[in-house]
Amino acid sequence: MARIQADFLVLGSGIAGLTFAIKAAKAHPNRKVLVLTKTDEGESNTRYAQGGVAAVWNHETDTYEKHIADTLDAGDGLCDRRIVEIVVEEGPQRVQEIIDWGARFDKEKGSDSYDLAREGGHSEKRILHYKDLTGWEMQRTLMEEADRYPNIEILEHYFALDLITQHHLGYMVIRVTPGIECYGCYALNKQNGEIDTILSRVTILCTGGAGQVYKSTTNPVIATGDGIAMAYRAKSRVGNMEFVQFHPTSLYNPAGENPSFLVSEAVRGFGAILKTAEDEEFMHLYDDRLSLAPRDIVARAIDAEMKKRGTDCMYLDCRHLDKEAFTAHFPTIYEKCLSQGVDPMRDLIPVVPACHYLCGGVAVDEYGRSSIHRLYAAGECSSTGLHGANRLASNSLLEAMVFAHRIFQDTEDKIDGWTFAENVPDWNAEGTTEPSEMVLITQSIKELKEIMSYYVGIVRSNIRLKRALDRLFLLYQETEDLYKTTTISPQLMELRNLITIAYLITRSATHRQESRGLHYTTDYPGQLPFIENSVL
Ligand code: FAD
Ligand code: SIN
Repeated sequence: MARIQADFLVLGSGIAGLTFAIKAAKAHPNRKVLVLTKTDEGESNTRYAQGGVAAVWNHETDTYEKHIADTLDAGDGLCDRRIVEIVVEEGPQRVQEIIDWGARFDKEKGSDSYDLAREGGHSEKRILHYKDLTGWEMQRTLMEEADRYPNIEILEHYFALDLITQHHLGYMVIRVTPGIECYGCYALNKQNGEIDTILSRVTILCTGGAGQVYKSTTNPVIATGDGIAMAYRAKSRVGNMEFVQFHPTSLYNPAGENPSFLVSEAVRGFGAILKTAEDEEFMHLYDDRLSLAPRDIVARAIDAEMKKRGTDCMYLDCRHLDKEAFTAHFPTIYEKCLSQGVDPMRDLIPVVPACHYLCGGVAVDEYGRSSIHRLYAAGECSSTGLHGANRLASNSLLEAMVFAHRIFQDTEDKIDGWTFAENVPDWNAEGTTEPSEMVLITQSIKELKEIMSYYVGIVRSNIRLKRALDRLFLLYQETEDLYKTTTISPQLMELRNLITIAYLITRSATHRQESRGLHYTTDYPGQLPFIENSVL
């Protein structure tokens, strides 16, 4: 059981975590920046981003006002306009920064101008991309840049378990307690099974999303909402958890696959059209923007058509597109389809909605500050006010970079005034033994995903939400009993965290008695006249 000290403790090595780490390490060469990541450094949601990063780049055709208006429109009344302006206006500087660190975005043939793509809800072409592997390219760049700083240490296969606050020093901490402070975290070193105490002057949560709470998701298996669950347990405020984005087009695989493979929205931006198995278009029945309407509308339309027809998927037609251009822009998607026996140039691509992005998370202000002192959050685990009730495509990589920078700015002068906490006890594992039946954990995870997929999915209702809460409560009780008596394992912690996330989504959905953005309920199909963010 080691005790480790780091000036900056960063939880997560995706775009948010590494962007912050690089900036902090550069500005403070004598201070230690410690990054924990629960598997390999390169495994993250970031790595799988396909479409790209949205930024106003071509000032002849695009303006900040247009990007702001598109973001507000997608967010269905719940975006914080000030935050939208910050992200849109500061975003291009952050994109330039990652280009300076070595990120390659595609350029137009024979030109020095970037090849800007379009996605749903965007009124202009403004998506910078690297083929259909933008996330991989950004993750690669950040890892290489981080390697240049000797004061960044990255601990792989380290699983953060809980944030350390006054609660661990023996004080009573309840949700409304003022002045809760974060002193670091307890983390499981997966290589030796020991739980280390990691003390920090400041902690930055960059733990990403929680797609694994649903049966079908584009998110990799690491996306279990650990950071949000940890912050909630530490009594931080979390917000807007009912707004879960389902991507309309994951590749339908009858054999099932975890994660589901994404067919980027950029494919529709490139001209692909949504169709039925009978080769008929249907999006005109739902929205004037057809296949490029915002994601909530397209996902609901596909879901409705599938239910109406009793089918397992709908289709994407790319057959009219230029093969050379298509395969140059989407080589990974093309190859993946072929591997499943679908030739996008000759066949319709079977697609189905899958959980893709969590708009809610740890509630933070314009500098990424959570309601707990010395605890910040950036990226998908945070709720900044940018996305409101529905995220505009390709705005999240941008948000993560902008907020990582703002947290860096806010911590720059404060770090000297923050000290390490004393008398923090080691993790107490008294009375716990190795699990005798792993099946109790794996089966509970399966049950949880079923509950969320059937009762808290794209279309909700009071009775479904109540059923979900009742069943979640049972799972919660069983899992807490297991937690009190069983040696900590990543699987047990992920189950616990996923139950917390499921509860937060379902509870927030129950509170929202209207349909707005990504939250659609048959009991309240209209919108309330007053507009409120949810906070738990
Ligand atoms: P992540 O990149 O997910 O990183 C999270 C990190 O936290 C990981 O390193 C993980 O190991 C670590 N971690 C988690 N829990 C723990 C723990 N308990 N202990 C230690 N470490 C932990 N967005 C766009 O803007 N454009 C796109 O084109 C786009 N395409 C996408 C395509 C796919 C298939 C997916 C899944 C997402 C896409 N998104 C896209 C969304 C975007 O990729 C993510 O929102 C963004 O990358 C999140 O970055 P992050 O740094 O917050 O988290
Ligand atoms: C996609 O490429 O369709 C994903 C874009 C995003 O999630 O922002």
